Amino acid sequence: MISIKNLNKIYKNGSVEVHALKDVNLEIEHGEFIAIMGQSGSGKSTLMNIIGCLDRPTSGEYLLDGIDISKQEQDDLSLIRNKKIGFVFQAFNLIPRTNILRNVELPMIYAKVKSSKRKQRSMELLEKVGLGDRVNHLPNELSGGQKQRVAIARALANTPPIILADEPTGNLDTQSSEDIMEIFKSLNNDGTSVILVTHEPEIARFADRVIVFRDGAIIEDSQKEGVLK
Ligand SMILES: Nc1ncnc2c1ncn2[C@@H]1O[C@H](COP(=O)(O)OP(=O)(O)O)[C@@H](O)[C@H]1O
Ligand SMILES: [Mg+2]
Repeated sequence: MISIKNLNKIYKNGSVEVHALKDVNLEIEHGEFIAIMGQSGSGKSTLMNIIGCLDRPTSGEYLLDGIDISKQEQDDLSLIRNKKIGFVFQAFNLIPRTNILRNVELPMIYAKVKSSKRKQRSMELLEKVGLGDRVNHLPNELSGGQKQRVAIARALANTPPIILADEPTGNLDTQSSEDIMEIFKSLNNDGTSVILVTHEPEIARFADRVIVFRDGAIIEDSQKEGVLK
């Protein structure tokens, strides 16, 4: 599904260069559940943004289902992203003055799904994450855990095969974090590939494979057997 070869990302700010990813090689199959770990500044978010087609590598190859992402124009990247990737962020990134039903509808508006179908799907997704009785609430009327469940529902709107989550439990208490991880686990059991960044071992243990970064390079890549499966 994902094939990354000799991937490099260099940020340039004036005369300052940051080599954020250094010759990264990575193969990810459909249906995997991966945790990416590593210290702050080790390149985790940079990799997630490239995998999620939000950014392009400086050099190297990234194939997503056989499509060479580094050669795509910006418009095509957006299309690919909208179809294949669901993003979940630490800060939830919900639209504040818009009820959660509408928040979940947004990716479907970009995908030109008809209004009635959008509403129905948004309802179903919010029910799926346990918020069926809150659809008219605004994001700031919800707890952090509930906000993140809205963000997951939104990420699922266009039925993407891949969910990317960058420190999704970073702002949550232990119980909400566990609840969120159970949702990811169940999505993964239903066939969705899940790639998430975390620095918490208790969160990483939900994954089947753990990849550790240091200074822009992978220093460990280990498959777990039978954990919570
Ligand atoms: N937009 C940017 N411009 C310049 N440097 C950046 C930018 N984004 C990240 N970096 C740098 O790249 C390195 C990796 O950052 P990041 O991928 O965010 O790490 P992590 O997510 O593991 O904390 C860091 O040194 C960071 O300061
Ligand atoms: Mg980060």
